[in-house]
Amino acid sequence: MSTSVSSPLFRVKIFTLFPGLFPGVLGASVTGRALDQGLWRLDTVNIRDYAHGKHAQVDDTPCGGGAGMVMRADVIDRALRSQYTSIENKPKNLIYVSPRGKPFDQDMAKAFSQDGDVGILCGRFEGVDQRVLDAWDIKEVSLGDFVLSGGEIPAQAIVDASVRLIPGVLGAKDSLNEQSFSSGLLEYPQFTRPREWNDCIVPQVLLSGNHREIYAWRQRQSESLTKQRRPDLWGRYVASKETKTVKE
Ligand SMILES: C[S@@+](CC[C@H](N)C(=O)[O-])C[C@H]1O[C@@H](n2cnc3c(N)ncnc32)[C@H](O)[C@@H]1O
Repeated sequence: MSTSVSSPLFRVKIFTLFPGLFPGVLGASVTGRALDQGLWRLDTVNIRDYAHGKHAQVDDTPCGGGAGMVMRADVIDRALRSQYTSIENKPKNLIYVSPRGKPFDQDMAKAFSQDGDVGILCGRFEGVDQRVLDAWDIKEVSLGDFVLSGGEIPAQAIVDASVRLIPGVLGAKDSLNEQSFSSGLLEYPQFTRPREWNDCIVPQVLLSGNHREIYAWRQRQSESLTKQRRPDLWGRYVASKETKTVKE
């Protein structure tokens, strides 16, 4: 299934047993509008179409025993070849979404959005036969330390985060607000109208119109939140600031 006809810079192929789950949330709001405008392209490949035999079996029992089923290497290999012809032609970013992969982050989203073609293999059951991952040198990427039933939700999350970074997808106003992680810090707290709600008033500085003070307040809030909630990010932020100071 192709959901866009033009040839945009960011092109995603999803290898899945459930193509009907796409575009899913990607078809709504910012990412959906960008898809309609041809700013990115989404294709799905139904892995089942590459299964042979009367029962079109895509999985089999795990060698060595154990619970569940494993997706077959030969079937996935045929699905990949249908799109890339050979291993040499695979895109740089061909990934398998998996709980044991490298944790997905904003830097990866940025790299994906700039690298053109991305292929995402969505697992089901107990996962995928290791041989096809090794043969195609497929990188594993995790959405976090938990186990989902399939790779389709991680794939949509990864594509969403990447599409947002394609130039022109977010308006200039929104881009300026793209705060969490882009500067290495979490975003400051946001407020809107009404000015007073539930006996709480919006912080005075945000109503002052003084942009320098607003910027400084937000920066302090971002730093304090990051320090409190994400000591890992805070450590990296402080280290990068120190490196910058030494270079200057
Ligand atoms: C039930 S899970 C398999 C879990 C696998 N047996 C394990 O313990 O690592 C089925 C599929 O969901 C996807 N999946 C589940 N959790 C994920 C996560 N945290 N990040 C990325 N993909 C995930 C993977 O594609 C996986 O093959």
